[in-house]
Amino acid sequence: MPIIAPSLLASNFLRLEEECKMINQSEAEWFHLDVMDGRFVPNISFGLPVIEQIRTATTKVLDVHLMIEEPEKYAEAFAKAGANILTVHIEACRNLHRNIQQIKTLGMKAGVAVNPHTPIHLLIDIIEDIDLVNLMSVNPGFGGQKFIPYTLVKIQQLRALIKERGVDVEIEIDGGVTLDNAKQIIDAGASVLVAGNTVFKSINPIETIAALRKL
Ligand code: DX5
Ligand code: ZN
Repeated sequence: MPIIAPSLLASNFLRLEEECKMINQSEAEWFHLDVMDGRFVPNISFGLPVIEQIRTATTKVLDVHLMIEEPEKYAEAFAKAGANILTVHIEACRNLHRNIQQIKTLGMKAGVAVNPHTPIHLLIDIIEDIDLVNLMSVNPGFGGQKFIPYTLVKIQQLRALIKERGVDVEIEIDGGVTLDNAKQIIDAGASVLVAGNTVFKSINPIETIAALRKL
């Protein structure tokens, strides 16, 4: 069964405590937290103080997706804020291998995110060093966008690479995941589904999470 990672970007920030309680009660295993700096992406979301608060509201995995420039400057602060998984963008890192080692030294799992235009073969020299690949299935920066169908091909390519190397790396799909396309995404080889609007804008988020898991 896939891991479901609700993206709090689509939650009601005025009711953040209740939203956290809802995820705690649900079958979702991770909280997906989207950090945007207005430079790497054309939007600003939330950052360290909010994540520190969320840490006190759950014992589940905090999966932090950094859509920021120079992530190495902030990795330690995100570790202190309680992140369990820290994902950096390949497009934002000049020294990706060093950044990955830094994240692991700080005691977190390390993820690499790739934008829709970034080919899977750019991961071949880093795949053995990481715990997760976040395959962006929309352009990063905003929730509520439409899933880019070519992502399905990339999932298959990445699954083949992971198999060939015999490594244990999660394939996380981020953006435009719905109850209608989730099965195809899982069948292609994904292991983690991020879902923002599909979960938080549904009438019964707990049931929606359960439904995504069972597809
Ligand atoms: C986009 C973020 C996503 C986003 C997904 O930049 O990385 O995690 O919140 O939202 P939905 O599921 O609504 O497309
Ligand atoms: Zn994300």
